[in-house]
Amino acid sequence: MIHTIIEPFRIKAVEPIRMSTRPEREGWLKAAKLNVFLLPAEHVLLDFLTDSGTGAMSARQWGALMEGDESYAGSQSFFRLEAVLKDLTGYQYVIPTHQGRAAERIFFSVATKKGDLVPNNTHFDTTRANLEYQGAEAVDLVIPEGLQPRTIHPFKGNIDLARVEDLLKREAHRIPFGMMTLTNNSGGGQPVSLANLRGYRELLNRYGKPLILDVCRYAENSMFIKLREEGQQDRSVKAIAQEIFSLADGCMMSAKKDGMVNIGGFLALNDARWVEAAKTLLILTEGFPTYGGLAGRDLEALAVGMEEGLDEDYLRYRLRTAEYMGEKLKAGNVAIVEPTGGHAVYLDAKDFLPHLGPGQYPAWSLANALYLEAGIRGVEIGSVMFGKRLEDGTETYSAMELVRLAFPRRMYTQSHFDYAAEAICELKARSHEVKGVKMVKQAKYLRHFTAEFEWT
Ligand code: F0G
Repeated sequence: MIHTIIEPFRIKAVEPIRMSTRPEREGWLKAAKLNVFLLPAEHVLLDFLTDSGTGAMSARQWGALMEGDESYAGSQSFFRLEAVLKDLTGYQYVIPTHQGRAAERIFFSVATKKGDLVPNNTHFDTTRANLEYQGAEAVDLVIPEGLQPRTIHPFKGNIDLARVEDLLKREAHRIPFGMMTLTNNSGGGQPVSLANLRGYRELLNRYGKPLILDVCRYAENSMFIKLREEGQQDRSVKAIAQEIFSLADGCMMSAKKDGMVNIGGFLALNDARWVEAAKTLLILTEGFPTYGGLAGRDLEALAVGMEEGLDEDYLRYRLRTAEYMGEKLKAGNVAIVEPTGGHAVYLDAKDFLPHLGPGQYPAWSLANALYLEAGIRGVEIGSVMFGKRLEDGTETYSAMELVRLAFPRRMYTQSHFDYAAEAICELKARSHEVKGVKMVKQAKYLRHFTAEFEWT
């Protein structure tokens, strides 16, 4: 029996990546003010900044682009996409949007109001920000294991049903609907079990509340269910996904993830009242309801991508990639969030750089060091992203200091991952040499995108 899980594709078009030297990278990082967001992408060797919209499309998707019907109204491409999404989700209404956050903004504008509370396992940043923009409060209720980096649990993305019930008992009148994020990106790309979703559904039913899913990475979540949840092994991933959708009343999706496209998203719902208001807003800001801010060709690529994202050979390879990286890193004494999730590996920077205090931004420093060491770009999920400078000048710091290495879909091969793991383990062996940083310039909101730093 052969155990190696290979990339289930061969390569038809290649895109060169340029090797660079350490002195070159030192110059580029200095010019970028020690902020990897400010680096030109051509100066990055392996780009693990995000898995969102960065993957490779298939030959079938590139072929489908040519079929794009660019009619302003009633595009055939829309009807093809609608048929695929209705078959998968079972929802009656499909509204395309240019990406996930557009679906969020439109849905929250019609379905929430000031003072509302929305429970979720963990709201992604844009989800939280869009709710807060409406004056609503985003409540994160992931199970306690979901916040412990090294506690092993098969479904660390599960929501804490006891805390949901408690919230419903006290505040039902303020809760317009419940949400669940599949997989739980902010918690490490951890999956949610079917049992947990069923329990959540039952609980929300008792209070007459709808359930809305954030399904960016629903296919990865469904594969985790097939691999890990009792009694699910013999079902197809698509059947599992269909059950997930059937447990909810609608969903929002950034199709830049499991939709396997570079741009796109949608909102799918059953409730006609929400749909009418959502379409009105869509026309105001995104476009006519049969294209929603996308080109006809984007809709075609997405219709194909939604099917390819559910391919089980692909998903087995996809989940194995993160697991493989995790195994190699652990073998080199690199602490990571465990078990590995679907789309990324998270390095624990506090463990990696124990000599740096919170004011030296360990995760930010580690992201910089990885770039200098090997041309790898990851993203800090730590105090630069989640801390704040208060009015009186004092700084707040986040509990965890992580560097996320998120993997674009179908883009890098095993040797790229071998290279990355070797470089990170090598850096770990000399980690005491890594310097901390101090922040010398910052914006008031979302400061990580533009902040400037110097070495300490
Ligand atoms: N929900 C989740 C769980 C996400 O991970 C994202 C995006 C969004 C919503 C918003 O979708 O970017 O299409 O507007 N996550 C990206 C990331 C940006 O890097 O994790 P979008």
